[in-house]
Amino acid sequence: MTVNAAEARAALATRLGERGYAHSIAVAETAVRLAEVYGVDRDEAYLAGLLHDWSRDENAASLRDEAIRLGVDVTTVDETVPYLLHARTGAAALRERFPALPERVIEAVERHTFGAAGMTGLDQVIYLADALEPGKDAPAANELRHEVGRIPLGELYARAYAASLEHLVRGRRRIHPATVEAWNSIVEEHV
Ligand SMILES: [Fe+2]
Ligand SMILES: [Fe+2]
Repeated sequence: MTVNAAEARAALATRLGERGYAHSIAVAETAVRLAEVYGVDRDEAYLAGLLHDWSRDENAASLRDEAIRLGVDVTTVDETVPYLLHARTGAAALRERFPALPERVIEAVERHTFGAAGMTGLDQVIYLADALEPGKDAPAANELRHEVGRIPLGELYARAYAASLEHLVRGRRRIHPATVEAWNSIVEEHV
């Protein structure tokens, strides 16, 4: 059993602004293309891409309250930048809202910002779709788009993750502890 795509889109439209909704549709469509190239379930890719930013448009205070209510671990970095909670909070909120949503889809939503150790193909597809959807025109995204289908999925994910980490460091942004953990697992798994 799973969730109907039209039903998911209608629910999402009540939660996100126009920009966030357009981004979500673009991520869902990009995820389907990546899923087709790399042999991942396309329906799960569509749903996870569509719903990945379920909690993105909540303001800082309600996001933090919702995270605590749903039992999400709130670190000091999350307290400073509550936006960083949107993936984990969104995943927990989706589990409550759509009990029929496969756990694999929930996990891909949960992991779309920081990644994690032991990312599945679906997890990697959603992480990548978020970074490579057509609205993202960073030079790194353009380079990576050319590699789709030419290099293995895990390698594409490793490169996208490295580009994102470089961007954070150059911009002197905070690095969440989960990012360090995910990066170390990439180094171990994709040497
Ligand atoms: Fe997000
Ligand atoms: Fe996103």
